[in-house]
Amino acid sequence: MKKMGNHSSMTRKLCFSLALMLTMSLSLFAQDPAAAATDTAAPAPSAGGDTAKGKELFNANCAACHKLDAKATGPALRGVASKYEMAWLYKWVKNSSDLIKSGDAAAVKVFEENNKAVMTAFPQLSNEDIDNIIAYTSEPKAETPVAAAGATPTAGAQNQEGGISNNVILGALALVMAMLVVLLFFVNNVLRKVARANGIEVESKSPSMPIWKAFAKNQFLVLVSAILLLLCSAYFVYGYLMQIGVDQEYAPIQPIHYSHKIHAGDNEINCKYCHSAARVSKNAGIPSLNVCMNCHKNISEVAETTATPEYSKAFYDEQIQKLYAAVGWDKTTQSYTGKTQPVKWVRIHNLPDFVYFNHSQHVTVAGIECQTCHGPVETYEIQKQFAPLTMGWCIDCHRKTDVKTEGNEYYTKIHEELSKKYGVEKLTAAQMGGLECGKCHY
Ligand code: HEC
Ligand code: HEC
Ligand code: HEC
Ligand code: HEC
Ligand code: HEC
Ligand code: HEC
Repeated sequence: MKKMGNHSSMTRKLCFSLALMLTMSLSLFAQDPAAAATDTAAPAPSAGGDTAKGKELFNANCAACHKLDAKATGPALRGVASKYEMAWLYKWVKNSSDLIKSGDAAAVKVFEENNKAVMTAFPQLSNEDIDNIIAYTSEPKAETPVAAAGATPTAGAQNQEGGISNNVILGALALVMAMLVVLLFFVNNVLRKVARANGIEVESKSPSMPIWKAFAKNQFLVLVSAILLLLCSAYFVYGYLMQIGVDQEYAPIQPIHYSHKIHAGDNEINCKYCHSAARVSKNAGIPSLNVCMNCHKNISEVAETTATPEYSKAFYDEQIQKLYAAVGWDKTTQSYTGKTQPVKWVRIHNLPDFVYFNHSQHVTVAGIECQTCHGPVETYEIQKQFAPLTMGWCIDCHRKTDVKTEGNEYYTKIHEELSKKYGVEKLTAAQMGGLECGKCHY
């Protein structure tokens, strides 16, 4: 065996380069994401009550009609302690109607100012409870964090805080790659040196036939590659043709940025509360804006915690203002102005006119969950078309899905006959006639 004269110098170079790469990549990835210190100093409790307990009581009893800083059904409550004596407030909260009836001037005045809306009586609250609530309403308004205020309301603002951005990672990878190339170059050089030192001739390439000429001469190879090429292009052409008219993943921008994730996901509103027609008719329908106002009379802005790095609170609040503009709701007077304009939702799912599809048949009769066909809607920030809606998709499911016959008298007899005919225990939708052209085509 030949002795490697240059061995040690080569290993040293190798080790050095490796170590360099490692330290570089480590230091790049070890950025400290927790650097953005969160300043969560609790506000000093105001004298005369426990603000934390007060907040709890406020949210449980008062938040339905009151907000701290904006008018809702009742007036904004921040700083209300400076308007009235505590004794008056006890009486008012425990039973405002009594106080009004007694002719108390201040009470009558608020009552008149608020269109004579009646406030619920809270005889169950003790003076201490009310102290706590008033302490909570006396807290100074929290400063909005600078970051949130500066955030643009436009969608797609970049998340700079959480973790390292993709660009940094890509840059690091590119650097590592470049280093590898340099390293290989070194190794090659060293190996050549070693070879020369040991008297081995490194062969230089001898000129030979260009590869394409060799290829052209081999008829078998040419034939095989021609066939492969044809097959491949046929595959892609077929794929292209088949996706014409298929709008899977279609997610248009809607006139109001309406998030199913916030409504159906975070707040667990049932799909059928809004799409109530899905149970009983062919179409699931888009809810009318009155349905929205059942809740949004009182929800004029989203909570601070609802904002995401992508969509700021200001952006969401603006969307709710669009809803108000459309139904003609005046937030300050809490009344309808009568000036309405329809919201033009962009239709997402749309079967061709020659296809008959019925929601109630699938949702009520077959008991299929919305999510089977529409995907995990409760996680969609933006609604999209989940299923391809092709004929193959419908047929496929009809072949696989058993008809739900339990508790459905209508099916008992037909099920008996058909299961005898097919000799099976359970019938699929296909065996019930779900493959007949006329069932789906007019
Ligand atoms: C059902 C709705 C409703 C609930 C619940 C409610 N309020 Fe009221 N509140 C009102 C209305 C409406 C007014 C305005 C006076 C009126 O029309 O009676 C009002 C007025 C007030 C006022 C006088 C405000 C001012 O600026 O003059 C105070 C104080 C008050 N509420 C405290 C409370 C507290 C505390 C709670 C919870 C324990 C509460 N309210 C729960 C509807 C409500
Ligand atoms: C608070 C009311 C509300 C609730 C609850 C709700 N939706 Fe919607 N849904 C809407 C509105 C408004 C639209 C139209 C705007 C859009 O497409 O984002 C819509 C659109 C859709 C569409 C697309 C319609 C089209 O144009 O093709 C589907 C599918 C859908 N919803 C399914 C669901 C499912 C499934 C659930 C339950 C997980 C659900 N929705 C819960 C209000 C609601
Ligand atoms: C059952 C009550 C309820 C109904 C009905 C409802 N919402 Fe909401 N909506 C909410 C709640 C709760 C929030 C979130 C508040 C928060 O996060 O602080 C919200 C937030 C929003 C937002 C801001 C977040 C976003 O999705 O962009 C918009 C816009 C909105 N709703 C529009 C609508 C529209 C349009 C309808 C009618 C199709 C509707 N809402 C029906 C309860 C409701
Ligand atoms: C078996 C599959 C299937 C199930 C289950 C299903 N959908 Fe659909 N949905 C469709 C198809 C297909 C369309 C397109 C209909 C068309 O274009 O005529 C559609 C359209 C819609 C639309 C658009 C507007 C309309 O009225 O057609 C909404 C909204 C909708 N579905 C909501 C729901 C909700 C909510 C549920 C659950 C209660 C549900 N869907 C269950 C297949 C399904
Ligand atoms: C997730 C599975 C599923 C998908 C997807 C589906 N279906 Fe169905 N479909 C069923 C089941 C299950 C039944 C049987 C319901 C019953 O008990 O009558 C059914 C029944 C039907 C029927 C009535 C058949 C009969 O014998 O009376 C029609 C029509 C129909 N589907 C049309 C469609 C169309 C059109 C599509 C595609 C746009 C589609 N379905 C997609 C599961 C599905
Ligand atoms: C379960 C429901 C269903 C049944 C059963 C069904 N189809 Fe369809 N068919 C569809 C749907 C949905 C489409 C629309 C597909 C699309 O838009 O990509 C369609 C589209 C078609 C088209 C047009 C294709 C195109 O790309 O425009 C033809 C032709 C057709 N069907 C013929 C038939 C024939 C023939 C039968 C009986 C052997 C049949 N269909 C049975 C649901 C069905």
